[in-house]
Amino acid sequence: MPGWLLKFSMSFLRMVMTPKGLAKQARKPSGWYGKYIAQPMFLSGNAALNQLIFNKLDLSSNDVVLEVGFGPGALLGQIAEKVNRSNNVFGLDFSPTMLAEAQRRNRNLIESGLLHLQQGSSSNMPYTESYFSKICCSNILYFWQPPEPHLSEILRCLQPGGQLVMGFRSADQINAMQLDNEVFARYSDEELESLLKRVGFSDVAIIHQSAEPLDSYVAIATKSV
Ligand SMILES: C[S@@+](CC[C@H](N)C(=O)[O-])C[C@H]1O[C@@H](n2cnc3c(N)ncnc32)[C@H](O)[C@@H]1O
Repeated sequence: MPGWLLKFSMSFLRMVMTPKGLAKQARKPSGWYGKYIAQPMFLSGNAALNQLIFNKLDLSSNDVVLEVGFGPGALLGQIAEKVNRSNNVFGLDFSPTMLAEAQRRNRNLIESGLLHLQQGSSSNMPYTESYFSKICCSNILYFWQPPEPHLSEILRCLQPGGQLVMGFRSADQINAMQLDNEVFARYSDEELESLLKRVGFSDVAIIHQSAEPLDSYVAIATKSV
């Protein structure tokens, strides 16, 4: 999606929906809006960000991977194809609409046991301690208010030495899109780095990459051994 189309779509949506309604649908997509408006915007608007997350995950067939807040499930499909091992790739999202869409998109991978999707919240994840070698998420950080319980859950579920790869939009990008102040929390790189360290992650790095329609931002953090 080119930048002008994203701006046009956002302006149009702001005319037909309240800022709060738009933000709530981004946080937890539902119904026809979730399926026919939010989903295509996620798929095209976040493709470059998800590709950067995929590259940074640097997956092998030994990895046990979770994506939290998978939305349409396109990144998870790519991950499951790459890992290509039964019972190694999982996804958790609290939106029934997104769960149904991701199940439809990834039916073959699910039926062959290469991908497992579940409805649930990142505040209380249905996985045992130290289960995953890698956990990723994209465009969910803003909605965790406060963020600490969710990041602590991710840390609990990571193996020692395991990595979190988290895609997000910068405060400037969120401001430019005029997204609701209450629903979308904003972070500077410094604030995000200190948040991740405060929760218990180490070796935190924040990467920027030029991309269309928006530059990509990814935080990588490790659970200490
Ligand atoms: C803005 S969408 C992003 C979708 C996709 N990751 C992307 O970047 O295109 C946020 C997704 O995270 C899910 N989500 C938000 N908060 C969540 C939570 N606390 N637990 C589980 N899923 C959550 C929403 O249901 C939605 O599918």
